[in-house]
Amino acid sequence: MSDTTAFDWAPAPRAPFRPAMPERPEDWLPVWRVFVDKQAQNPLNGWPKQAFDDHYKARKVFNLNYHFISDPAAIQHVLMDKLGTYPKPGIVKRMLAPAMGDSLLTTDGEAWRDQRRMMAPVFTPAMVAGFMPTFAQVARQTADRWATADSDVIDVAAESGRTTFDIINATLFSSEAGLSMEEAHDHMLAIMAATGQYRMGVIFGAPWLDQNPVQWRGAAGRRFIIGRLADFIARRQADPAPPQDFMTRVIDAFSAAHPPRAAAKLALDNAVTFLGAGHETTANGLTWALYLLSRDRQAQEWAGEEARAAWDAGGAPEDILARLPYLKMVWEETLRLYPPALRIDREAAQDDELCGHKVSKGDQISIWPWIVHRHRRLWADPDAFNPENFHPEAKAAHHRFQYIPFGAGPRVCIGAAFAQAEGLLVLSHWLARFRFRPVAGHTVEPTGDIAIRPKGGMPLIVERV
Ligand code: HEM
Repeated sequence: MSDTTAFDWAPAPRAPFRPAMPERPEDWLPVWRVFVDKQAQNPLNGWPKQAFDDHYKARKVFNLNYHFISDPAAIQHVLMDKLGTYPKPGIVKRMLAPAMGDSLLTTDGEAWRDQRRMMAPVFTPAMVAGFMPTFAQVARQTADRWATADSDVIDVAAESGRTTFDIINATLFSSEAGLSMEEAHDHMLAIMAATGQYRMGVIFGAPWLDQNPVQWRGAAGRRFIIGRLADFIARRQADPAPPQDFMTRVIDAFSAAHPPRAAAKLALDNAVTFLGAGHETTANGLTWALYLLSRDRQAQEWAGEEARAAWDAGGAPEDILARLPYLKMVWEETLRLYPPALRIDREAAQDDELCGHKVSKGDQISIWPWIVHRHRRLWADPDAFNPENFHPEAKAAHHRFQYIPFGAGPRVCIGAAFAQAEGLLVLSHWLARFRFRPVAGHTVEPTGDIAIRPKGGMPLIVERV
């Protein structure tokens, strides 16, 4: 895909659309309110105006020292320049371990490097190009469903989730039958909600403190998903001629280095990780893009026209992608305003300094794309929807670490190119066939667990063009 495709689109001056976001208090709230109150239900609540003006804030959360940073140079220092000094935090590993064990997302050092080396070949540009026909085919199935639906009001959040779930299942797991069901998707959501909930028990190492319905549903979700995937892996291990996909590659690579049970467990940890990390994030990107376009008619018209022309011209999916420069800007702007991954955390393995402040071994570093992407020192009119922020010329002026929807540095999202192509192909197919309009009276509220999603879904009126 190229940024340089000639396009003669020229933005007309227009009133910017300022999409939904929580109110910002004048001052920092006391930390205890994070665990009760509105903050406990929605981690996007409670961030004061100052958080979007200052680049650094230290806070003590019970026994943990947190450094919240939003200075791109400091982010680069943590995520790239001093990777070895800043591994994933113990607390994050404890939160993720019940579902994801020792996977690519949760390990550090040599264990992480080995896994990354093993999996990187599945996500090269050539491999992603090979997945593109599947992206297009699943997008079409969803659109066909809408075309024959009884109602023109469609919850595009649920539909995006189903679409990306089917895509990840088809591309990485060769459409494993045990997973192609609504139930699996709902269980995955329950796991994510439970994983992202602020929990005293994780902080204090006392899981009994964390008994509540969200955690119970998460545990049921884990039993279901882990059970299905464990069965699937056992069948694959016994299959003399398994499909040559991501899962087989991971099973074979772990089997070459570990005894069968350990290999099966590592394969399972990664299967859960890729199923979770690889579908909810993109689904939320699609949902927020449709929301923004439904409120900005002009942008939707441009994106729709471009998408129709791109699909009408035909050719391979890569060719279609190269004809979507405006939609690419819309997509990138969407991931700025609503970065699907809520936070990126690290733990100092030794003393250091950040933004002129001392960091001690064991301290937590927390980077919130939500804040960095709406920071007033980094963006003009940061809370407005403005795809022109990602015009190639505007992009060239950004600091590399001021836009981090996929993280950055060596641990940047392994699926970034996959998600980018998937997001654009699916969106463009939908925009070529439908117009999206707001449902009167529906209030949009962004909320978060480990992803940023709209509370209660995203109903939109979906009309055939
Ligand atoms: C719009 C979609 C996506 C977003 C916004 C996103 C975001 C992120 C972020 C922020 C990280 C870095 C976390 C950190 O450094 O702590 C990450 C890592 C990761 N992502 Fe994604 N992701 C997306 C799609 C995907 C897809 C499609 C896959 C798989 C097919 C995937 C799999 C992973 C994995 C396995 C990691 C861990 C990489 C490592 O630590 O080496 N993600 N993602």
